[in-house]
Amino acid sequence: MWNREDFLTLADLDRSDVERLIKRGLDLKRKHHDGRLEPLLQGKAMAMIFRKPSLRTRMSFEMGMIGLGGYAFYVSDEEIKIGQREATCDIARVVSRYVDVIMIRTYAQEEVEELAKFASVPVINALTDLYHPCQVLGDLMTIVEKKGKIDGLKVAFLGDGNNVANSWINAASKLDFELVLGMAKGFEPPDEIVSRARSEGGRIKIVYDGFEAARDADVIYTDVWVSMGVRSDVERRKEVMKNLQVNSEILKVARSDVIVMHCLPAHRGEEITDDVIDGEHSVVYDEAENRMHIQRAIILELLGK
Ligand code: CP
Ligand code: NVA
Repeated sequence: MWNREDFLTLADLDRSDVERLIKRGLDLKRKHHDGRLEPLLQGKAMAMIFRKPSLRTRMSFEMGMIGLGGYAFYVSDEEIKIGQREATCDIARVVSRYVDVIMIRTYAQEEVEELAKFASVPVINALTDLYHPCQVLGDLMTIVEKKGKIDGLKVAFLGDGNNVANSWINAASKLDFELVLGMAKGFEPPDEIVSRARSEGGRIKIVYDGFEAARDADVIYTDVWVSMGVRSDVERRKEVMKNLQVNSEILKVARSDVIVMHCLPAHRGEEITDDVIDGEHSVVYDEAENRMHIQRAIILELLGK
């Protein structure tokens, strides 16, 4: 059950939380485009702590706050050096005195959890090595926007069993869609994440063939084969995942109205080809835009607005 104190992983939400956030994200998107957003975050500030690079997450959170009358500022780990210059618990306590909400992108999920434990304001996980919950919540919103629903659909995730895949697995335990992971041996998501999601009703299948994964899919999703911070097996990953590339051949076995998604940044020519990412099935730029709308919904909910 989600305590609505922090947003650390999709596993903490229940189905009604996910549905409510998606509905609010879609509503905020309409209001944004109609020029009807209200300044619900007037006087509120967000600290955005980054230990890894970002284009979308930083800008969508910053513009997300600004569009609702709030303020957001970027803090690089170069300055604060979490755990080196200062203990995480002290950073959490001090930053909580200045701002109303903290967003962090880092390596270890435990670091986000520790920050949340000691912060007196809500903490949002903006990507760790383990999860990327804001991304996948925005992706679910994009699917509902494009397909009108998510229940009953088949989502195929092709590539690395990484943080984004893990958040997809969590999502599958909350909603009633089928998740088929097209993986390479040795690069699957952690067993405990898959088992927990299955025990909560998640319909999750792992296969080792891209075509099998993509067959009759309503959604084909991919992400980079080498995530930020990954140093090991870089060349081997590219070799063993090359058959999982999202290309025009793979698209042929999916449903004719399949949508293609990618959280971006994409390594064109590796996990996805130019013709597919630029093609008629791709929704990747709407997906990127929706990060801002869903994050507004998350922030408003955390701040009780
Ligand atoms: N999708 C995503 O999180 O993009 P950035 O790494 O650019 O923030
Ligand atoms: N899996 C990727 C996602 C980037 C948004 C990474 O962690 O680098």
